[in-house]
Amino acid sequence: MTDKKVWLVTGAGRGMGTEITRAALAAGHAVVATGRNAERVTTAVGAHDDLLTAALDVTDPAGVQTAVDAAVARFGRIDVLVNNAGNFYAGFFEEITPEDYQAQMETNLFGPLNVTRAVLPVMRAQRSGLVVTISSTAGIVGQEFCTAYAASKFALEGWSESLTPEVAPFGIRTMLVEPGFFRTELLTQDSTRYAEPTIADYAERTRQTVTAWTGMNGRQGGDPAKLARALVQLAGSAEPPLRWAAGVDAVGAFEQKAQQLLAQADAHRELSSSLAHDDTPANA
Ligand SMILES: NC(=O)c1ccc[n+]([C@@H]2O[C@H](COP(=O)([O-])OP(=O)(O)OC[C@H]3O[C@@H](n4cnc5c(N)ncnc54)[C@H](OP(=O)(O)O)[C@@H]3O)[C@@H](O)[C@H]2O)c1
Repeated sequence: MTDKKVWLVTGAGRGMGTEITRAALAAGHAVVATGRNAERVTTAVGAHDDLLTAALDVTDPAGVQTAVDAAVARFGRIDVLVNNAGNFYAGFFEEITPEDYQAQMETNLFGPLNVTRAVLPVMRAQRSGLVVTISSTAGIVGQEFCTAYAASKFALEGWSESLTPEVAPFGIRTMLVEPGFFRTELLTQDSTRYAEPTIADYAERTRQTVTAWTGMNGRQGGDPAKLARALVQLAGSAEPPLRWAAGVDAVGAFEQKAQQLLAQADAHRELSSSLAHDDTPANA
């Protein structure tokens, strides 16, 4: 390790966040590992000279600022932010309550925004930094039963992609990570909330879909420790990717979406291209 950086990771008490913290420490970096319960983070990661654990609920802007201040007080800077914390509100659109939709957005979208808003002034002052955001293949491809989750992740994609040129002049980069299925605790009841079945029309598909999703828990192909090591390697490269498909299923999802978009652009090319005012110059 030649280039020691200071990382701040959200949701580090279990799942990918724990693995990313371990991998960054193993690579010789310092890490501020955060979670709603700081003690749980310490227990998950273990003691380390270059580790600071701190309480950080991504939905609480004041608490976020306190944790970011503690990070800077301890290590003097923040080089890599990993927006990792997230959860999954599953169900058919008509059965997910407005409150659960709000809650999904509060954690998966507004959470990363809260944390990034607190970290960017530190990175701007340094004139360097990398904002890593864990999105999902559900941020690239939508699917049934995932309207709330996909909406939150698609929103993250648009946010990060638009933030990129805003902060580039300050030497700050962004990196979206789109994991496929990884064996974490995401599909357990600690992280997934299934909508209450209320509409008979959906009852049978709900039963089948919940059975399929719960059956996947513990059997996902992706190894989060491998993802974490690869992420640390990419974050340390000269040109971290703007988007990184994590997992063979994610590569497939990227390809499928890219081909679909090309086909959709092509399908009505003539009609799509015929919508300008007749008196407008062709390149306006
Ligand atoms: N596993 C996959 O297959 C997969 C695929 C695509 C994307 N992802 C994304 O990967 C990220 C990590 O998920 P995971 O798979 O590691 O799931 P996980 O094992 O369930 O871990 C989720 C983490 O998020 C934390 N969290 C939830 N709400 C929070 C809040 N308000 N403030 C702070 N932390 C909060 C949890 O902390 P608590 O212990 O306090 O609940 C936990 O540490 C998520 O953004 C998820 O959407 C996962």
